[in-house]
Amino acid sequence: MNAVKPDNIKWGELGFSYIKTDKRYIARWKDGKWDEGKLVSDNTITISEASTVFHYGQSSFEGLKAFKAKDGRVLLFRPDENAKRMNRSADRILMPQIPVDMFVNACKSVINANLDWVPPYGSGASLYLRPFLMGIGDNLGVRPAPEYIFSIFVSPVGPYFKGGLSPVNFIITDMDRAAPQGTGAAKVGGNYAGSLLPNKEAKKQGFADCIYLDPKTHTKIEEVGAANFFGITKDNKFITPISDSILPSITKYSLLYLAKEYLKMETEERDVLVDNIDEFAEAGACGTAAVISPIGGISYKDKLHTFYKNGKEVGPITRKLYDTLTGIQKGDMQGPEGWVFEV
Ligand code: PLP
Ligand code: COI
Repeated sequence: MNAVKPDNIKWGELGFSYIKTDKRYIARWKDGKWDEGKLVSDNTITISEASTVFHYGQSSFEGLKAFKAKDGRVLLFRPDENAKRMNRSADRILMPQIPVDMFVNACKSVINANLDWVPPYGSGASLYLRPFLMGIGDNLGVRPAPEYIFSIFVSPVGPYFKGGLSPVNFIITDMDRAAPQGTGAAKVGGNYAGSLLPNKEAKKQGFADCIYLDPKTHTKIEEVGAANFFGITKDNKFITPISDSILPSITKYSLLYLAKEYLKMETEERDVLVDNIDEFAEAGACGTAAVISPIGGISYKDKLHTFYKNGKEVGPITRKLYDTLTGIQKGDMQGPEGWVFEV
């Protein structure tokens, strides 16, 4: 039985936690093909103890959000991009491809089966979709699994970093989340296991999360926990790091486009030297869960480098980017062609 019911949720107070909703989608791959997939009520999965997901981390996940529009429609933000990224992750760790249509239709069907759980327009909350793909079946040696499960559950969520649009501080870690030619650009489970300890240490010191530097030289900013980094220079350029070991964030690429085409800013994907972080007047973390979280300050070598208004307020460009992105996501503003899917 569900502990939480949609009627009892205070939508404006939601954080980023799992809430069991009514239905989830599950499909199985065997002998080279996917079955039809179905919606089920049970939120547990029983699989072989010898599944590669348990031992060898053969798993990938995605995250995307659905929003209630003012007129009651439910809108899904760029699900085709998540499908394509999941397929790139699958390629990297030898899992089967999921046709983009199958992925998008599964997202729509799981939302339609949980409509009461889509947070109301204007609540600041959204419905988070968590697609995941994993190797199952009997197997012992280090090799790809004989069978796979693709599943999607949903959970209503609020902000990932406490504070929402209030700035939070981060600390540079000397641990790495990825190797130079490793799996950093793929959304695979193992990357996140490796991030648990640096995240715990950052939080213990009072920071929202850690910032990773490039694994080769430890001189360039790569990721902000489970989000990408962007900075706004003092002459108003939108800058975001470039590297093969960063997860290509759909939010980040959306912001690059919006900064250029909607806000008419200059944009650059280039190295961001940690020794030069004071080049930025504003900085932020961006991602599906994080949306846009303003960075108040970054602690590096025992010094806190702060951004807009000593890190106490969200800067004007960050706010404009936030308003533009979320305006498109909830249907208040016209987005670029093909970004918003009606459910
Ligand atoms: N970086 C990492 C490591 C992530 O886990 C995520 C979340 O998906 C992101 C960045 C942001 O990516 P996206 O904007 O596609 O959600
Ligand atoms: C997302 O933004 O969807 C993520 O995957 C980040 C995190 C919750 C792992």
